[in-house]
Amino acid sequence: MSFKPKIIIKDDPILLAKQAAEIFVAGARRSVGQRGRLAVALSGGSTPRRMHKMLASEPYILNIPWGKIHIFWVDERCVLQDSHASNYGTAKRDFINAVPISETQVHLITCESSPRVSAKEYQKILSDFFSFESSRIPRFDLIYLGMGADGHIASLFPGQKALYEKEKLVVAVKGGDPNMNRISMTLPLLNQARHIVFLITGAEKARTVQTVLEDRKIRLPAQKIIPLNGQLTWLLDRGAASLLSGDLHHDKVNG
Ligand code: 6PG
Repeated sequence: MSFKPKIIIKDDPILLAKQAAEIFVAGARRSVGQRGRLAVALSGGSTPRRMHKMLASEPYILNIPWGKIHIFWVDERCVLQDSHASNYGTAKRDFINAVPISETQVHLITCESSPRVSAKEYQKILSDFFSFESSRIPRFDLIYLGMGADGHIASLFPGQKALYEKEKLVVAVKGGDPNMNRISMTLPLLNQARHIVFLITGAEKARTVQTVLEDRKIRLPAQKIIPLNGQLTWLLDRGAASLLSGDLHHDKVNG
């Protein structure tokens, strides 16, 4: 992988979540200073939840200019918002309800129409929000990604057509665990971001992390995350990093 991601290895998931929250605070400061706002896209799943809850607690809640933060999702499952499977519903319960942010700053993916129409509707939300930007494809300031043990990211699963989408920014897919209709950002949109941060914990993902970071044949969705003009950070705990060889050509920071 000629592109050099930064690899940060933390001793445990709590320290990883703190680091992720600090990246959020720093990203907010930088983006608000440069563009007057932070446009951040969150992932679902379990890994980011500890960080999300931290954002609603001190010191982080005091250091984030919430009035300038715009929250989006990299994907959503087509379920009711009060379902435990809802990425938005879970984030709302974990931190959005507890921070001073208005509804107009929270851009959730709804799935009221058919998944295909819902994908188009979210793409319109993105185009409208980023309409004043010069770049043809919206550029998020910060995107947090998780990774499944199969190497999927967002709702882009190995072998699925959506992984090769070159034009659409948001697509409807069916898959995952739970296997259901989902709406997902695509690689052309994700790779436009100024900073992408993977949050991965657990020894059960160590083999996949090693494959993605050390096997040069691009095979898994996570290996297709290569920001075109941005920073890529892999934030791993010791378990997830346990199979990495010592001679990775990356900035590897332990702590
Ligand atoms: C989703 C997520 C998905 C998640 C991975 C890892 O909606 O399911 O966006 O891509 O990040 O499946 O999930 P865990 O953090 O639960 O391992």
